[in-house]
Amino acid sequence: MKLWGGRFAKETNTLTDHFNSSISFDARLYKQDILGSIAHVSMLAKQSIIPLKDSELIKEGLLDLLADIEQGNVLFDEKMEDIHMNIEALLIKRIGDVAKKMHTGRSRNDQVALDVRLYVLDEINEMKAMLLSLMNTLAQLSEKHISVIMPGYTHLQRAQPITFAHHLMAYFEMLKRDFARLNFTYTMTNSLPLGSGALATTTYPLDRDFVAAELGFDSVCENSLDGVSDRDFCLDLLYSLSTLMMHLSRFSEEIILWSSHEFHFIELDDAYSTGSSIMPQKKNPDIAELVRGKSGRVYGNLISLLTTMKGLPLAYNKDMQEDKERIFDSIDTLKMCLPIFNEMLKTATICEKNMYQAAAGGFTNATDAADYLVKKGLAFRDAHEVIGKLVLYCLNEKISLEELPLDVYQSIHPIFDTDIYEAISLATCVNERKVKGGPSTSAVLAHIDHAKAFLTDNQLTSSI
Ligand code: ARG
Repeated sequence: MKLWGGRFAKETNTLTDHFNSSISFDARLYKQDILGSIAHVSMLAKQSIIPLKDSELIKEGLLDLLADIEQGNVLFDEKMEDIHMNIEALLIKRIGDVAKKMHTGRSRNDQVALDVRLYVLDEINEMKAMLLSLMNTLAQLSEKHISVIMPGYTHLQRAQPITFAHHLMAYFEMLKRDFARLNFTYTMTNSLPLGSGALATTTYPLDRDFVAAELGFDSVCENSLDGVSDRDFCLDLLYSLSTLMMHLSRFSEEIILWSSHEFHFIELDDAYSTGSSIMPQKKNPDIAELVRGKSGRVYGNLISLLTTMKGLPLAYNKDMQEDKERIFDSIDTLKMCLPIFNEMLKTATICEKNMYQAAAGGFTNATDAADYLVKKGLAFRDAHEVIGKLVLYCLNEKISLEELPLDVYQSIHPIFDTDIYEAISLATCVNERKVKGGPSTSAVLAHIDHAKAFLTDNQLTSSI
């Protein structure tokens, strides 16, 4: 019989059991469920709601059950619907009637809200560590490639020269914001729903602050209807993870482009590439493509849960059971993508010469040539036109601005002098951009210093 079977005259249909059950996916909450129950029964005893010796027996039984589950010795039953009822039923079977007191003053509605929150808090910590590790890789690669010149792009057209370090550190900033979003989500999750009961608390004199302290929560949910029906923290998580995937996806797109023969800016390590079953010459960036592709499922999970939540009257509704697969899938996806992306990046070979040649080939120093004229007294708009003419000339002659003889420069404008060559060298173009946030070695080194301080403040150990 079901734990709630008292008011039912018939057994539920197997289709109902199968449809209603969540054990196939919420089994992974077993630990949170057990730790929540231990804190709950400790509080029940402290408040003299159940005898101390009963709470001790229940706790002991729960810890034994936890150990057995962890050793893979426990089978869950679909008929028991979800992890909460499975654990209660198993405990009753193991320690007898005393286990029936465990659910005093509690509902599955506040229980599931508690379990999901505890789970999300743990997972955020794991994902933060992975994210910091990737950020650490970016800072280290940037330091290593501090003066590797590459073209910067707008509209995917070569625009101005930058460095590979400058490019990588752009991603550092994106990931830093992702880290902040995970911290925000952590704060939103860090409140105890238990004690909300089914929807309206209970008449037992519960001590919710005690349970919050036992489980490490910062606060208790202040309204019981909200306590059982709030899934904003899941949505915050899904949004944070969607944005993180969007960043990894943009980065993947660049890695895919850079690995092509046309760019050939990087070469991925064989250990992080794949081949083709028909074309023997192929080496494909499958990892980057899969990361890019998997962003779709994480966005989908966000939209899916937003849609599930949008029409729900207060308080708990079974629709909310749909939250778990969405967040589990997103967390699993991120926990697969972050480490492999990190390794792929760490082991890639950077083709410095090809990057430099691409920067040298696309008139990326044309702005600097115009600025040279401005420094000699021309108005920027006039300078722009002069250089535009020179670029056209070079295009016809198939040469670069650096290769253009001085007499040609002077035939277009007499103000040009031999110092033009130094002014438009790629190294000058990059290193004169000393403005905070710019690509010069000095500016990027300052950024890397801040990045390292950020990593240290957030306790990245080099072993991660
Ligand atoms: N498996 C359910 C869920 O995930 C647990 C809560 C069920 N509560 C209820 N009143 N049926 O949401």
